[in-house]
Amino acid sequence: MSADVKALIQEGAALTDRALESLIPSATTVPVSIHSAMRHSVFAGGKRLRPVLTMQAGVTIAGARPKGIERLGAALEMLHTYSLIHDDLPALDNDDLRRGKPTCHKAFGEAIAILAGDALQTRAFEVLAGLDCPPAATVQIIGLVANAVGTVEGMIGGQVLDIESEHLKPTPELVDSIHRAKTGALIRVSVVAGGIFAGAAADDVARLDRFGRKAGLAFQIADDVLDVTADSVTLGKTAGKDQATEKATWPAVYGIEQSLRDAARLIDEAFAALDPYGSRADGLKAVAQYLVERKN
Ligand code: IPE
Ligand code: IPE
Ligand code: MG
Ligand code: MG
Ligand code: MG
Repeated sequence: MSADVKALIQEGAALTDRALESLIPSATTVPVSIHSAMRHSVFAGGKRLRPVLTMQAGVTIAGARPKGIERLGAALEMLHTYSLIHDDLPALDNDDLRRGKPTCHKAFGEAIAILAGDALQTRAFEVLAGLDCPPAATVQIIGLVANAVGTVEGMIGGQVLDIESEHLKPTPELVDSIHRAKTGALIRVSVVAGGIFAGAAADDVARLDRFGRKAGLAFQIADDVLDVTADSVTLGKTAGKDQATEKATWPAVYGIEQSLRDAARLIDEAFAALDPYGSRADGLKAVAQYLVERKN
């Protein structure tokens, strides 16, 4: 990773962490168990890549980071963390390790983990409702985000397909639809919402959507590859899980080499959508490149 991308991600992550700190009730707020659980998972050390994409999409449209965009990024990170807490539950992927720490249900029990996921989701929408941007943009963002985490080609729908496809022989079509939905949709909306927050017009939204679709799919391909090629300490989550549970993954269909090539090609294709923005999109492109070159 170049020094520039590293600095850009670190800065975005620090802004996101500060916003999350102020937006999530303190661990001493009653009922303390759920607020401790929400904080345990949110502050366990995520990469904050969705908020960073949001911020860089804002820079692409406005030329500079729009004031208050970190609250939008924080809301998206809450939704992402909610999806991880539920993904790790015994009824779904049954994982013990997340972000280098015990999973939420391991630390707080299943009931509180389920409720902590629910609570991060509702708090995220409360934060979105209070965004510092024109009301029409706020309403548009809320609608698109709700759709992206929903059941039709959204995160929840993708998770359903994912668990229902375990132990089946995956086809290219199946793994494509799982990945676009369970992970791609939230990545795509992180980019699109950042643009809308920054004042994107309809043609900007269409371009960011095209970029986000490709980058989102590439991100999950990279996640599948890392599950095979990296170790648990580096990942902060249990490596080798996908093969053990016979998940429908990109490498299961195409192998590792082809998966790496597909991820790189998708990022190149994604870049083309940003041509009209010239150097204003450099940060967004650099983060997208990192999505597929990361080691964890
Ligand atoms: C992991 O996402 C889960 C997927 C959607 C593939 P990240 O790799 O962004 O996880 P964190 O946020 O850094 O923990
Ligand atoms: C997770 O996909 C997608 C969501 C959390 C919505 P994975 O199950 O592959 O994510 P990891 O590998 O556990 O992080
Ligand atoms: Mg899963
Ligand atoms: Mg999982
Ligand atoms: Mg995975």
